[in-house]
Order: sequence, then C-alpha cells, then structure tokens
Amino acid sequence: MNFKTILAIESSCDETAVAITRGRQVLSNIVASQVEEHKLYGGVVPEIASRRHAEAIYALTEQAISAAGITKKDIDAVAVTTAPGLIGALLVGVNFAKGLAMSLGVPLIPVHHLRGHIAANYITAPELKPPFLCLLVSGGNSVIAKVTDYTQFEILARTRDDAAGECFDKAARAMGLSYPGGVTLDKIATTPDFNKYPLPVPHVEDSKYDFSFSGLKTAVINILHNLDQKGEQCDVPVLAATLRRRVSEILTKSTIDLAKETGIKTVVLAGGVSANSELRQMMKDVCQNEGFSLYYPELCYCGDNAAMIGVQAAYEKATASSSLNARATMGIDEVF
Ligand code: KG4
Repeated sequence: MNFKTILAIESSCDETAVAITRGRQVLSNIVASQVEEHKLYGGVVPEIASRRHAEAIYALTEQAISAAGITKKDIDAVAVTTAPGLIGALLVGVNFAKGLAMSLGVPLIPVHHLRGHIAANYITAPELKPPFLCLLVSGGNSVIAKVTDYTQFEILARTRDDAAGECFDKAARAMGLSYPGGVTLDKIATTPDFNKYPLPVPHVEDSKYDFSFSGLKTAVINILHNLDQKGEQCDVPVLAATLRRRVSEILTKSTIDLAKETGIKTVVLAGGVSANSELRQMMKDVCQNEGFSLYYPELCYCGDNAAMIGVQAAYEKATASSSLNARATMGIDEVF
C-alpha cells in the first residue's frame, strides 16, 4: 500500500501517541507519557491508562497535524495500533481512529504493535530491507523473528515464560527501583559480580534458542530475601548489573546462533528493551566480530510511539472497515 501522508495513533499501553508520516519519513511524532502517574502504583493501572488516553488523544492529534505543517485535508489514511495491548487502552485509539477516518473519508489501516516496533528501524536506517533476523524484546513479548518481508514473519524462538522487559521490571521492583524498572535498572547498574550474586543460566528443555526469564527473576528475589533475613544490605547497582549482563548474554547468544544457523547476515533489534545499553553494546561487538550487519532504533523510537505505526502502515496490505475491533492478544503473523 502506498498512501502518501498517514496519521498514526498508538495507545496500546501507557503512552498516548500521534504521528504524521510519509513512507519512512516522520513529519511529526508526539508522545504523551503517563509514566509519572503509574509510578505511584509501581506498574501500569489499565483503568487509569484508558482514561488518560481518552483525555489526551484529541489534543495530541491536533498537535501532531500542526507540528507536521499539514492540514486535515492532506491526510491520505489513518493508521492505528489494533493489537496486542491493554484492551481498554487499545479501544480508545481504535475508536478514535475509526471516527477520524470516517469523518475524513480516508482508509483505516490496522497495525500490529510489534510490527510497528520492527518498523522503528526503517526510520533510522533508510537502506534496511527484509529479509533480516529480528530480536524483538519488550515488556510483554520476547521473540526472535525471521522477517521475510514487510508483512511476513516467522517466529524462530520465543520466551517460555516472562518477557525480558517483564523480568527486568519485576526484578527491579524487588530491588526497590522505580517504575519502569528496566529503564532505572539500566541507569544505575555498575559492574556485574557473579561470585557475589550467582545468577543461574536458565536451561530450556528441547530448544536451543528459546529463552526463559522467570527463573532469573526468582533468583534475584531469593538473593534479596536471603540478604534481608541475614540483615545484610544489597549492593543494588552490582545486582542490577549482574542481571543485565545475564539477560543480555542470553538474548545475544540465541540471536547470533540463529543468525548463523539460518545464514541471515542482517540482525535487527526492536522493542523497549532494545534501548538497553549493555544489550546494544554486546550485540555491536559480537556482530562486528562475526561479520553481521546490526541495526537498532534510535533511542527515541525504542519505546512506544506512533511514528513506527505510521511507517509500518505504509507497508501493510489490508485496510479495515468500521467494524474493526481491538485485540488484547494476537500473533505478529496473524491478519486482522
Ligand atoms: O516496547 P515497550 O516500550 O512496550 C511494550 O510494547 O511492551 O517496552 C517496555 C519495556 C519495559 O519492560 C521497560 O522496562 C523496558 O522495555 N525497557 C528497558 C530499557 N528501556 C525500556 N529495559 C532495559 N533497559 C532499558 N534501557
């Protein structure tokens, strides 16, 4: 599909975002984060998220149009994150997008949130084209996908339990770090020490590439309990660094092993956890040594934003009718 100017909406979790895109070009990208409010509760409160989306979405749309220097008449299509995510939050974006597309008389393009995260790389790297291997790591998902075309994906590995971001967030919360834990943990982490804090190397039965993170999260919680029972202080920056190192090693090893096995020479990182400083550095070093090309999104496009949704929408093949409904769960390879 090749719509010229797309207005894109993202509201799958705790960021309300609207962007104007043209192909891979971002004309405006407005994000209103609710993080400060959810911080009070140590995690996202779905009811609050939906209400804040409903309050913010109209003004953000006006703002995105004006920041792009266009008028509503210039909009050729409306794109919206339709799945997966918090259902109440998604419904705000989907229903607003339906009304907007109908009133403007333009097509509505449903976009899978994770396809959007992958497309964040197209913004930063105009030369990047499928096929490539993508490590997609966010708060709710951790997979390695073979991206055979812009709308064709094959999952080659996945987490058997927690997502990498979830492991970081829950372990960080147990360490007393503020929400979103993954971000804080990455900021305060210093030097890992596996002798002081022996974290296991998780083993997944019957798969060389799948990962498991819940055991690591439990190991961190047990270390903290044991220290507490002995009345000893935890060196949080060292424990944070030890966990960060272990998670980065696991993700890097599976990705590189799969790249070697499939013969795919281009490796791409995507999703919120792709902002992790150690994961980026480790991937950079290994890809350089092994002769793979590596891409990751600019930091401002790692987290949830609507620019990535607009960019992916330009490659999507299907438009939706006014009966489009949001879905809390959906595979990246499914069609709406
Ligand atoms: O992709 P994302 O913004 O939202 C989802 O679609 O899930 O990912 C959010 C996740 C959270 O778990 C957050 O803690 C994690 O990404 N994250 C990080 C970093 N920045 C965000 N985890 C580790 N290091 C970071 N620098």
